Amino acid sequence: MFSKETYIQRRRQLKERVGSGLLLFLGNDHAPMNYADNTYSFRQDSTFLYYFGLDHDGLAAVIDVDGDREIIFGNDPTIDDIVWMGTQPPLSEKAERVGISETLPLSRLAGFVKGKQVHYLPPYRGEHQVKLQELLGIAPAAQAAGASIPFIRAVVDMRNHKTAEEIAEIEQAVDISVEMHLAMMRMVRPGIHEAEVRAAVTAIAQRGGGDISFPVIATTHGQTLHNHGYIHTAQAGDMFLLDAGAEVASHYCGDLSSTYPVSGTFDERQRVIFDICLNAHRTAVAALAPGVPFRDVHLKACTAIAEGMKSIGLMKGDVDEAVQAGAHAMFFPCGLGHMMGLDVHDMENLGEVWVGYDGQPKSTLFGIKSLRLARPLEPGFVFTIEPGIYFIPELIDRWRAEGRFTDFLCYDAIDKFRDFGGLRNEEDYLITPDGCRRLGTKYKPMTPDEMAAAASLE
Ligand code: GLY
Ligand code: MN
Repeated sequence: MFSKETYIQRRRQLKERVGSGLLLFLGNDHAPMNYADNTYSFRQDSTFLYYFGLDHDGLAAVIDVDGDREIIFGNDPTIDDIVWMGTQPPLSEKAERVGISETLPLSRLAGFVKGKQVHYLPPYRGEHQVKLQELLGIAPAAQAAGASIPFIRAVVDMRNHKTAEEIAEIEQAVDISVEMHLAMMRMVRPGIHEAEVRAAVTAIAQRGGGDISFPVIATTHGQTLHNHGYIHTAQAGDMFLLDAGAEVASHYCGDLSSTYPVSGTFDERQRVIFDICLNAHRTAVAALAPGVPFRDVHLKACTAIAEGMKSIGLMKGDVDEAVQAGAHAMFFPCGLGHMMGLDVHDMENLGEVWVGYDGQPKSTLFGIKSLRLARPLEPGFVFTIEPGIYFIPELIDRWRAEGRFTDFLCYDAIDKFRDFGGLRNEEDYLITPDGCRRLGTKYKPMTPDEMAAAASLE
């Protein structure tokens, strides 16, 4: 938690930006796994954390902009709560730590908002939908459309611009994330199970008091972009893809990816593809600066990948035309990066079109439709750079059967890579007033030689 002045200042800015009305914030409740008292580890709503700091269940808050009131709604612990969960201060004392002097029991919330014009954010949990229906009488199916655009835009604009104290937290998360990746490089060898790597890197994320920032991807089948299975044993000749990050106790996130050769060195074909991906990564980083649309950075990385694929005979024709048409998406069917902060995909619940597109429409073209960030970059933006190259047999077969992009894709040559798998490398960046900075005081090895050197250190 930051000092109370941070939260007071954030709420003051939010009131100025939205201008009038009643702003409703729903905190998260515990989410049961299989019965009510057996819950997933608690995760507070990130916008609630950003403005109200309190990191436990059973809370809501209202800012009455016109009446200049800020109220946290919640219940004081009962004797049963204390018996099962331990001593806890009263809500008023907790609220005071974030500069809030007015608290009310949760039962008062419905009466407080009744009949008023309420700004609310899009719900992403069933419990929020139930509460919005009870509080505001809006059916779940209509809730997303009724969410307040001025409220969303104000929150997005504030949270998109990270302050120095937020960046310090993110850098701690990135440093722990680097440790997770170094551990992977040291432990991966033929015979290791994906589940062992997942367990080891999760432990590193958790031992500092935080957790993982999203379900770990630890796989020898890197061609599946979000592979959450941990069922394989690594074999000599495989590549091991780790996409994993830590979330520190304050809930700021890191997100890194590495692809490591299980035998210790890449074979010739793997090395060629790895170098094309690394070149795309460096091309993207070299383009980062305030004012540059991230869409252009993404397209530069796509072009670098397409040029690399052409150089080894997997693509042909005019590279710029191929990228414009979307042919490179055979190998890179996703986006180059996403905003990162209190959420690993920051504020995705508020809508990518606001967070990453500033309200501009997204493309529907396969590949670039999955780009989460496209807007011109501004100082304070924190995001990932994560190009990858993937050979997805079903996609190869589908496009070939459909005759897609035959001017640009060399299907016979591509087919020889159908068992290749996939690889990705990822780092986290901050836009500064005059350029960019890689986040983290620790460095995640990026080249094969750097990875080999890191793997040999105990
Ligand atoms: N690191 C997982 C993702 O960015 O989707
Ligand atoms: Mn990522």
